[in-house]
Amino acid sequence: MHLQSPARAALLLTLCLLGPPDSVSQSEIAAAEPVPYSNKGADSCIACHDDPVSLAVFRTPHGVPGDPHSPFGQEQLQCEACHGPGGAHAARVRRGQERPPVIRFGSEGGTDVGIQNAMCLGCHNADVGFGWHGGPHDSNEIACSDCHAVHAPQDAVLQTSTQPEVCFECHALERNETLKAFAHPLFEGKMDCSGCHSPHGETTATQLAQQTLNDTCYDCHAEKRGPYLWEHAPVAEDCGLCHAPHGSNHPGMLVSRAPLLCQSCHAQAGHPSIAQGTDGLADGVPSQFLLGQSCLNCHEQVHGSNHPSGSKLMR
Ligand code: HEC
Ligand code: HEC
Ligand code: HEC
Ligand code: HEC
Ligand code: HEC
Ligand code: HEC
Ligand code: HEC
Ligand code: HEC
Ligand code: HEC
Ligand code: HEC
Repeated sequence: MHLQSPARAALLLTLCLLGPPDSVSQSEIAAAEPVPYSNKGADSCIACHDDPVSLAVFRTPHGVPGDPHSPFGQEQLQCEACHGPGGAHAARVRRGQERPPVIRFGSEGGTDVGIQNAMCLGCHNADVGFGWHGGPHDSNEIACSDCHAVHAPQDAVLQTSTQPEVCFECHALERNETLKAFAHPLFEGKMDCSGCHSPHGETTATQLAQQTLNDTCYDCHAEKRGPYLWEHAPVAEDCGLCHAPHGSNHPGMLVSRAPLLCQSCHAQAGHPSIAQGTDGLADGVPSQFLLGQSCLNCHEQVHGSNHPSGSKLMR
């Protein structure tokens, strides 16, 4: 956490008044007057913005006067720590004249997202970490405030029971998967997306919370890590070969049912369990489904076995 530089904020708002950063030339920046701060801080703002939404910010971790790093700590800029210099905005405007804006948050009708996020990052660069910059949310112009409700006493994205709804606003596909018959208990409020994903981004694929997909699963399913005397190769390689992590219509969140699941890798031919008739195979017709109905009836240790004679994953 490091402190917001007021000069930087004044420059940012100047840029925002001039237009999107890409279209602003160096000479325009040099010529522009820095936008002033208000005279009385929050008191200036509250004179007009005394509505419940604006005032609720005092009941959040940002509204703590005793914390020197909080926007309302001593010598901090209060509302303007986030909304930028509001001196011109708070001043009286003549009839017919437009009120100069302050920085507005959100993806609709707001200030340029880069500028919005810069206001937050001025204090939170270390908290969001290295992975944010250039990660999928940053590069798709997602604002901090698309996920975080800063004026709300309870920020929904920080509570396990309410977080998924925030994410589902944009991730409709994952909502559908999570609604399938067999899924992680996201709708029961027992876990959240950030159990598996690092929402500010990671250097890993699909922002997983751990370095690999399997390591992410081991966080909660440690027993599947083994080590096993008899490993089942695909398990150690990638749980996603058999499981759909967000949910599926097959029991156990499997990508398909046995025997098809198993037969997507294992040849049907030559299996010792195909029933033998007197003349060889049953009725002379080899059926890959005959006894293989559920491979798991016999090969029940599908994640690996520690039994001395478990090499065929049967005990
Ligand atoms: C004299 C009254 C007045 C004062 C003082 C004032 N505002 Fe405003 N503010 C308004 C009005 C009116 C609007 C709505 C019109 C507009 O969007 O320009 C507005 C709009 C806003 C918005 C955008 C709201 C939205 O819908 O997104 C924000 C944010 C805001 N003000 C913050 C501040 C802050 C921070 C201060 C203190 C530095 C402040 N205002 C001081 C009158 C005031
Ligand atoms: C920590 C940063 C931060 C501080 C401090 C802050 N705001 Fe905001 N403000 C936001 C964000 C982000 C939004 C967008 C809505 C949200 O996230 O809740 C917002 C939204 C608003 C809005 C628009 C509300 C609406 O209905 O859309 C107004 C008005 C406003 N703030 C005024 C203020 C005033 C007045 C203060 C000081 C008392 C203040 N803000 C302090 C970040 C801040
Ligand atoms: C002036 C510095 C400052 C600015 C600007 C600022 N914050 Fe904070 N923020 C803090 C402090 C201090 C805390 C409380 C201590 C902590 O959790 O690190 C905090 C806490 C938070 C938390 C954790 C809240 C909780 O319930 O634990 C979130 C999320 C957050 N800020 C998001 C934002 C967003 C989004 C913005 C921009 C709209 C923003 N902050 C702007 C200083 C700031
Ligand atoms: C995709 C949604 C999303 C976006 C976008 C996002 N955050 Fe977060 N943020 C989260 C979640 C979820 C958590 C809780 C993390 C956890 O549970 O491990 C969090 C936690 C935080 C915290 C508390 C950190 C802590 O360790 O206590 C801060 C501060 C914060 N975010 C700031 C920001 C800032 C600043 C931005 C923009 C640069 C931002 N966030 C963008 C989802 C998001
Ligand atoms: C049990 C762990 C887990 C949980 C919980 C989880 N995810 Fe995932 N998610 C994954 C894994 C693993 C992948 C990578 C899938 C792959 O590579 O095939 C992924 C991929 C994604 C992707 C990228 C999809 C794509 O096709 O590129 C998005 C977006 C996503 N998850 C969003 C979410 C959201 C939103 C939530 C919360 C509602 C969530 N996830 C909860 C494990 C999880
Ligand atoms: C405002 C919209 C929005 C919100 C809210 C949002 N996301 Fe995203 N997210 C995106 C966009 C856009 C992308 C990049 C395009 C894509 O892969 O879908 C993305 C990408 C991702 C990816 C990476 C996909 C990949 O292929 O690398 C994951 C994982 C993810 N989001 C998880 C989350 C989680 C978890 C939350 C809630 C904490 C969340 N998102 C909230 C819009 C959003
Ligand atoms: C944050 C903790 C957490 C993480 C990480 C996690 N899971 Fe789970 N998993 C759970 C919980 C909780 C359940 C439900 C257990 C219950 O209902 O008894 C579960 C259940 C399951 C089930 C059984 C579903 C059923 O219908 O029987 C499978 C399969 C599963 N997880 C696979 C995975 C995979 C694969 C990963 C990695 C991509 C993973 N899990 C990551 C917490 C987690
Ligand atoms: C070769 C396919 C395959 C792979 C790879 C695989 N699983 Fe499974 N998993 C299964 C099958 C089959 C079931 C049984 C489903 C049922 O009970 O109907 C299962 C069940 C589960 C269950 C619920 C029952 C239990 O045993 O606790 C969890 C949790 C689970 N797997 C986690 C994982 C994790 C974590 C990984 C990666 C380390 C993984 N699986 C890799 C096939 C696989
Ligand atoms: C993604 C591919 C894949 C899937 C799906 C898969 N397996 Fe395997 N399985 C393998 C590989 C690779 C080996 C190791 C083969 C070797 O060592 O020669 C193996 C080994 C085995 C072995 C031990 C064979 C031996 O020769 O020691 C058994 C038994 C087995 N699998 C059963 C199953 C069952 C039952 C399922 C379905 C629940 C299944 N497998 C799904 C890839 C897969
Ligand atoms: C009736 C019990 C039974 C069923 C059902 C069954 N198997 Fe087997 N399977 C066995 C036995 C017994 C062996 C070990 C034979 C041996 O040790 O030489 C075996 C061996 C294997 C091997 C190792 C191959 C080899 O040549 O050593 C694989 C792979 C395998 N089974 C996969 C499957 C798959 C996939 C299914 C479902 C389509 C399945 N099994 C259903 C009993 C069964």
